[in-house]
Amino acid sequence: METNPAVCGKDCASCPYEIPEDLRMAAVCSEKKETACSSCPSYPCGTVRECALTGQATAYVHELFNGNAGGHDVQHTLRVYRNAMQIAAQEPGCDRLTVMLAALLHDADDHKLFATKNNENARRFLADQVSLEQMEEICACINSVSFSQNKGRKPASLEGMIVQDADRLDAMGAIGIARAFAFGGEHGRPLHETVRHFDEKLLLLRDLMNTEPAKRIAAERHAFMEAFLEQLKKETGSSGSI
Ligand code: ADP
Ligand code: NI
Repeated sequence: METNPAVCGKDCASCPYEIPEDLRMAAVCSEKKETACSSCPSYPCGTVRECALTGQATAYVHELFNGNAGGHDVQHTLRVYRNAMQIAAQEPGCDRLTVMLAALLHDADDHKLFATKNNENARRFLADQVSLEQMEEICACINSVSFSQNKGRKPASLEGMIVQDADRLDAMGAIGIARAFAFGGEHGRPLHETVRHFDEKLLLLRDLMNTEPAKRIAAERHAFMEAFLEQLKKETGSSGSI
């Protein structure tokens, strides 16, 4: 069984944080010295330091979300991280450490979940891990992700664009459909109201992607949502009264 003392001191197979397999593989890579990771097929995870930080940041957001956000879905954060690293792998000009940490911390101070100011939760983690300069870069990146808070302005940096795309991709495709109906259910809304959310937001996301790799993923997820809506109409009639 693999152990990763450099990351958390626990063996991966019995990880209490249920870190997804691909992230665990990144953690396992911390055993390797200096070289870029070669055993991580989907997400070339780079240097030893990146690998170790992934494990620590993942553990931090688990604690944060379980402790302060009423068990709010930390899995969204992990999916955004995975999307972001997939995009970053095809954007060689980006700073991967910034992308990685901004993705993992992008909802750490979400006003819907936490009453913090000035990226307090993100800074608490970053202060011990990166330079002051990089901490500011990562916080700026996180703050540029939200559409509403930036009045639709695109992020200024490539890293911000990648994390914004990664976040939006998680509102599309099969996972986007699942999240929309979960949201509707949580708010006591009838199904047809959630179907409206597709026209209001989800079907607009494809054309808002910043990066080429995200545009390709978004095209597939968009087509899947359209097929879903078509099938829904077939099963329920076209009057919209499901
Ligand atoms: P995020 O935290 O990922 O930036 P939001 O907090 O805006 O996004 O939304 C979380 C999830 O809930 C998304 O998948 C979004 O599509 C969904 N959602 C938001 N508003 C509605 C709505 N009115 N009806 C259905 N789903 C919604
Ligand atoms: Ni998000």
